[in-house]
Amino acid sequence: MSLLSHFIVFEGLDGSGKSTQARRLASSLASQGKAVRLTSEPTDNPIGRLVRDVLQHRVVTSSKALALLYAADREDHLSNPGYGILKSLDEGQVVIGDRYLHSSLAYQGVSEDMDFLKTINDFPLPGHIIFIDTPVEECMRRIEARGDEKELFDKLEYLKAVRSAFLEVFATLPPGVRYLRVDGMLDADSQARQVEAFLNL
Ligand code: TYD
Repeated sequence: MSLLSHFIVFEGLDGSGKSTQARRLASSLASQGKAVRLTSEPTDNPIGRLVRDVLQHRVVTSSKALALLYAADREDHLSNPGYGILKSLDEGQVVIGDRYLHSSLAYQGVSEDMDFLKTINDFPLPGHIIFIDTPVEECMRRIEARGDEKELFDKLEYLKAVRSAFLEVFATLPPGVRYLRVDGMLDADSQARQVEAFLNL
């Protein structure tokens, strides 16, 4: 099993607050003078933009094709010779990811076969995974408060299934991966303190 020890990934439901925590960690590391890169999936690169077109109903495709698009976006995000995560890690940066392959196992896992998803997501694992676990009803309230158009997966029943799938995949992580679950109902400062304590910052 290949493991990227300086790759720290935040996972959580839409509206969970994971992006806030990823940003806070990135600025805290940067203020300590560390070389840090904050990045997210789906990306803003060409394949990631196609994924967003599907999420925002501008392009229609099958759920299996969408799973393959997420995986293709991820492969490019990891290995692109210009902007790949592997290149940043090689250069000595700490990389903070807002979503990575476990989002595919959890979200696409609701409709697609898990063995198929694991096969197409056979990527190196991050050294650290932080799951911001916010109750589904609270996530839905926050998504609605943002006033954005609802995306493909912003539905209560779907997100409930995704949360269970996340908990299931995190229960069977290989021993080398360090995992922290953070209660997403805590205030943002307390969450950030737990993250920093976990990472020994
Ligand atoms: P994201 O931009 O993180 O949404 P938000 O900022 O609202 O949390 O992700 C967009 C959507 O894509 C989100 O519903 C989760 C979903 N997703 C998957 O279904 N599979 C994946 O592999 C990834 C990376 C995201």
